[in-house]
Amino acid sequence: MRTQVAIIGSGPSGLLLGQLLSKAGIDNVIIDRVDRDYILGRIRAGVLEVGAVGMMDRAGAGQRMHAEGLVHDGFALSFSGRRHRIDLKGLTGTSVMVYGQTELTRDLMDQREADGGVSIYDAANVTPHDFDGESPYITYDKDGVSHRIDCDFIAGCDGYHGPSRAAVEGRGLKTYEKVYPFGWLGILADVPPVDHELIYANHARGFALCSQRSLTRSRYYVQVPLSDKVEQWSDDAFWDEIRRRLPADVAEAMVTGPSIEKSIAPLRSFVAEPLRFGRLFLVGDAGHIVPPTGAKGLNLAASDVHYLFEGLQGFYGEKSMAGIDAYSARALSRIWKAERFSWSMTMLLHRFPAEGDFGQKVQEAELDYLSSSEAAQTAMAENYVGLPY
Ligand code: FAD
Ligand code: DHB
Repeated sequence: MRTQVAIIGSGPSGLLLGQLLSKAGIDNVIIDRVDRDYILGRIRAGVLEVGAVGMMDRAGAGQRMHAEGLVHDGFALSFSGRRHRIDLKGLTGTSVMVYGQTELTRDLMDQREADGGVSIYDAANVTPHDFDGESPYITYDKDGVSHRIDCDFIAGCDGYHGPSRAAVEGRGLKTYEKVYPFGWLGILADVPPVDHELIYANHARGFALCSQRSLTRSRYYVQVPLSDKVEQWSDDAFWDEIRRRLPADVAEAMVTGPSIEKSIAPLRSFVAEPLRFGRLFLVGDAGHIVPPTGAKGLNLAASDVHYLFEGLQGFYGEKSMAGIDAYSARALSRIWKAERFSWSMTMLLHRFPAEGDFGQKVQEAELDYLSSSEAAQTAMAENYVGLPY
């Protein structure tokens, strides 16, 4: 088989890129290790920046998101027994959209199917080859048969554990990493959200987050030690713990119910540089990971796709390599700002026993400053709604 752009990974970055390319008349194939239902079973991000919303529209897949997504003009910080609202809309003129990654992925998959795009699922041993030259290709096995896809470019949209970054390790790839000493225990439940906006709580027992997927589905998280196992946490234990970490009125108002998903995610910051090796690109989680506190993972995948699509469009439309040559630097410039923001939100809102009393006092001073300074709130809001592409 031959295509123009071979895309490894059918997550948000691969699907968004595939849609934009197809709309521009650029032939592409998406190939994934698992099947559609497995991908749609992964519960991940929930907050979209205006840039990611725009990308869904450009992909021709934004209709249901606009109908069912929830526009949020602010969120609350809870700390030291008080609550402070960050007025995103008032401070920046911009809002965010609450719409689950699962729904976004489903919409992109459905649109691709309707447009007749080619996706190959359940492919084993997917491997990129010869991307240093002008004729790269991908090999994979399916149903016991080996296949090869020849292409002009390979987009590595295959997440943190995928084969694309693995293929360039030891070839000038530099990685930067910070691992945090805790994880997030998250549950999804069909109960109405406790508030119409998100609540990020800094509490002596650890961080908590009240998020949501719809007016009838809530997503809640608590900070837990890395040694905790999800089996240790009954639903009742989770509800009791999150209520302890929230202001009394919020805890009282919280509607509880059986979880429909429960998992623990470790927190890390990670960046690989550069994001281009000849005709292979690293896109989204393949190139970088943020701790979830700033809700940036999915949004960074969307901005990477924006820069890469511009480069590919320039190549096929104007025979120019300029955008392709600029991809890594343009994407990394935005990635590092989101890394910084996600790190700062993580440091501000979690408990770090190893930082001692001094660290704790500095954290309290920063929260106090934030609640009294419009400049500090504006800086937080500007980053939360997303820096421009
Ligand atoms: P992915 O969504 O990881 O997609 C990569 C695709 O590549 C997958 O479909 C995978 O099957 C495929 N693939 C992998 N290996 C191979 C292979 N060998 N061959 C072929 N295909 C392969 N972000 C937030 O903002 N908020 C959150 O609450 C949040 N929670 C998260 C929880 C977890 C457990 C994880 C892992 C991430 C979370 N994120 C969150 C981050 C966010 O979900 C990611 O940033 C986003 O999914 C990135 O999209 P992507 O398309 O780059 O990668
Ligand atoms: C969600 C996750 C986040 O990390 C965040 O900052 C906001 C919302 C969520 O999964 O809903």
